[in-house]
Amino acid sequence: MSAIIQAIRGMNDILPDQTELWQHLETTLKRVASSYGYQEIRFPIVEKTELFARSIGEVTDIVEKEMYTFNDRNGDSLSLRPEGTAVCVRAGIEHGLLYNQIQRLWYMGPMFRHERPQKGRYRQFQQLGVEAFGIASPEIDAEIILMTARLWRELGIDQQVVLHLNSLGSLAARAQYKIKLVEYFTQHHAALDEDSTRRLQTNPLRILDSKNPQMQALITAAPRLLEHLDAESQTHFDTLRKCLESAGLRYTLNPCLVRGLDYYNRTVFEWMTTETGAQNTVCAGGRYDGLVEQLGGAATPAVGFAVGLERIINLLATNNPIKVGQQPQAYFIMAGDLAKVQGLALIERLRNHLPQLILTVDCAGGNFKTQFKRADKSGATWALILGDQEISSHKIAVKYLREQKEQVLLSEAELIKFIEQQKV
Ligand code: HAM
Repeated sequence: MSAIIQAIRGMNDILPDQTELWQHLETTLKRVASSYGYQEIRFPIVEKTELFARSIGEVTDIVEKEMYTFNDRNGDSLSLRPEGTAVCVRAGIEHGLLYNQIQRLWYMGPMFRHERPQKGRYRQFQQLGVEAFGIASPEIDAEIILMTARLWRELGIDQQVVLHLNSLGSLAARAQYKIKLVEYFTQHHAALDEDSTRRLQTNPLRILDSKNPQMQALITAAPRLLEHLDAESQTHFDTLRKCLESAGLRYTLNPCLVRGLDYYNRTVFEWMTTETGAQNTVCAGGRYDGLVEQLGGAATPAVGFAVGLERIINLLATNNPIKVGQQPQAYFIMAGDLAKVQGLALIERLRNHLPQLILTVDCAGGNFKTQFKRADKSGATWALILGDQEISSHKIAVKYLREQKEQVLLSEAELIKFIEQQKV
């Protein structure tokens, strides 16, 4: 026997018994995003590496160590997209979608990061991304956040997630704050763990994001970004908070929320599950007013978020067991040479009249008994039977598989009417 080839670690197959749940999730997300007036945009999975280095930031975990980067046959450095915001901005600038106009966009698809796989963290994962361009007001931040809250309600997981909110202020205010933070952590250098010592040089704000319990006291006592906001960012943040409060949305103010990508300013937020486990952020986003200009476009305010679909699926699967596994409503059995020749043509005519009907044809053959066994296992409501007898009488037999009812013999026209009356 030949050796079996397995999938790449952290890249998962989604099997038929899970796809119904995935479809339910995807349909709900798309419906809600569309209902807020957002339109779908699609873009490639591979981009120039430079796009991510210039947007996400050279000294972020993603760009430093998580990208799938390779040289193509022309020697160009390309990367599998680790996220969608930078690509959405690239496409928007390239096609003139962002210049002097408002755009509300969404996208859905796979992203790639070479992280250490564990539950909720994969190397290929799916995101829904939603981005609003051209609006600077805090009301659009509120719209975006209220949309995420609606997603959880529609999916029935609103009791399992909490919103964390922070403001990073303007780039200038953040640079000032960074100096204070470096001063503080330098004074407590001896108490820093290895990761934070490294971050002190490269990305000091990320020290606030440390999950190490031994670092928490030091982090809690650190200078607060929220206390160093510039006046405009403060007003923006206050208005956003009022909008959310007046809509009845509860949130936790989290001064340590800094996000792992460099492009953010002002509002940042994450939805976290109350479940235990390290990978508990199901959705994250914020404002990124400098990115369009940084990537060569005209200065354009922007705000958005991305949902990690696998993490939502994990929540749905553990807490809201939705019935999965699509069941055929009718199962067609045919036996005898004539029936086999005429059966599929008959079924195609039925499908023409009954496009909603889920109908499985037993093409595997065998005697009636074997076929009935499969019909029963399929979970179908009725078995439709075509044998020599039915052929000669121009009828089809309908056997109820789930109820104690008499089998009936129907003509093709009667069968169509019969199924129509069942409100398929
Ligand atoms: P992010 O925080 O890097 O932000 O990712 C957003 C979400 O994607 C995370 O909260 C998580 O649910 C999911 N996610 C990230 N990495 C993984 C992984 N390895 N396995 C499974 N799920 C993962 C962004 O990507 C930004 N582009 C969000 C954004 C849009 N900001 C503004 N607009």
